[in-house]
Amino acid sequence: MSLDLSGLDPERIPAHVGLILDGNGRWANARGLPRTAGHLAGEAALFDTVEGALQIGIKWVTAFTFSTENWSRDPEEVEFLMWFNEDLLTRRRDELHAQGVRMRFAGDMSDPRIPDRNRQHMKEAAELTAGNDRLHLVFAFNYGSQREIVDAARKLAVRVRDGEIEPEDITVDEFTRSLYIPEMPPVDLIIRSSGEHRLSNFLLWQAAYAEFSFPGILWPDFNRQHLLEAVIEYQQRDRRFGGAKDAVRID
Ligand code: IPE
Ligand code: MG
Repeated sequence: MSLDLSGLDPERIPAHVGLILDGNGRWANARGLPRTAGHLAGEAALFDTVEGALQIGIKWVTAFTFSTENWSRDPEEVEFLMWFNEDLLTRRRDELHAQGVRMRFAGDMSDPRIPDRNRQHMKEAAELTAGNDRLHLVFAFNYGSQREIVDAARKLAVRVRDGEIEPEDITVDEFTRSLYIPEMPPVDLIIRSSGEHRLSNFLLWQAAYAEFSFPGILWPDFNRQHLLEAVIEYQQRDRRFGGAKDAVRID
């Protein structure tokens, strides 16, 4: 399916879109299916959305696929999500590579609860696609933003302790470079499906000036057309980054 891009301003494409994939469980419940069926259905929605991002020309997409808080779910669901992450990567990897997508992972990958094979597949996918730059597709997996910020602070503290840098060298830019993916740009637009209006520990640092979109549909029903609509709406917003807007214009 090709998108009608005529309503889009090519000069104001968001550089980075964050996706909080929410509502898979409710989608399944509404059909009398197990929650895992909702996650399976959510895969098609994610990759249709990635296709849309490629057509629109978005350079970075970060998808929240597993949060550090998701470990508290039913063990069967957690086990399914671990398996599914790995399965999805291996099935999608070659196609994404052929499309010029760089697959990246943000999160605590050292967590012993992540199965080794899963960790290995993430590493392989990242290595295979490392030379691509049409779209950076970041899987926020075992990701929590507060933890990411604390880890960055620790890295910087160690560098100060070892005499590599002075405390005054810790600037916003230097801090940003200490996060999981040093070159990740600020997130311009965060979309959370399912009608929930929460950030849930996602990209807190990167979202300093993000715009938000909360489509009231469950994630498995989301597709590239919804992405396009969110981007068009984003383009109509007036982003001032803390600056003032002239109330009166004198020609
Ligand atoms: C999102 O859907 C999937 C994950 C991030 C794992 P949910 O599993 O949160 O679905 P609901 O919110 O229970 O409907
Ligand atoms: Mg949820």
